[in-house]
Amino acid sequence: MGELLIAPSILSADFARLADEAAAVADAVDWLHVDVMDNHFVPNLTIGLPVVQSLRKATDVPLDCHLMITDPDRWAVGYAEAGAHNVTFHAEATDEPVALARRLRAAGSLAGLAIDRDTAVEPYLELLPEFDTVLIMTIKAGFGGQAFLPELLDKVRAVKRARGDLAVRIEVDGGINADTIGRAAEAGADAFVAGTAIYGADDPAEAARALRRLAGA
Ligand code: DX5
Ligand code: ZN
Repeated sequence: MGELLIAPSILSADFARLADEAAAVADAVDWLHVDVMDNHFVPNLTIGLPVVQSLRKATDVPLDCHLMITDPDRWAVGYAEAGAHNVTFHAEATDEPVALARRLRAAGSLAGLAIDRDTAVEPYLELLPEFDTVLIMTIKAGFGGQAFLPELLDKVRAVKRARGDLAVRIEVDGGINADTIGRAAEAGADAFVAGTAIYGADDPAEAARALRRLAGA
């Protein structure tokens, strides 16, 4: 599936300095991961569409929007229209994942499907042709800084087996750091979200480069 993608999560960045925080990693990363939480789908509240619209103007790094929200059918397309490169919604939050993926692609973004900790991936494997990315949570969605759950890599393996020749990326999110990224890569992940491990480091760009090396790129 080609090169590995590194996506720092701005959840661990300084929200008052997002343009600077994006610039700090721009040369070292592929995507900027933007965690949108609504205090409903998950018990945490972060940022929404206006911030993504502003961030899009403030950086050239492609935005990878991870919508942890109720009712993505209502909101997700707005993120594509705002210029997000990839828009990922949760499988648990919609009854019409294929219809929404098609609307996202029609609006000009990639379409991503996220699978939270307690959700089996098998029912979704037949939908892979409709998606560009599958985001396997390696924690329970909601907060940064949680410990990586290695048993969730079985879902990465299942997607990898089912993917065949499809150009769908397997993204992992949660607890990815220097100790865990190698295991995720071995399981088949090819896009890696990291919040604490990048923005919690003294030199975020160097931390991102180190993660890329450890992932085997
Ligand atoms: C949590 C978010 C993650 C979070 C990861 O629900 O989806 O993207 O930022 O943070 P770390 O890398 O600290 O686990
Ligand atoms: Zn995320």
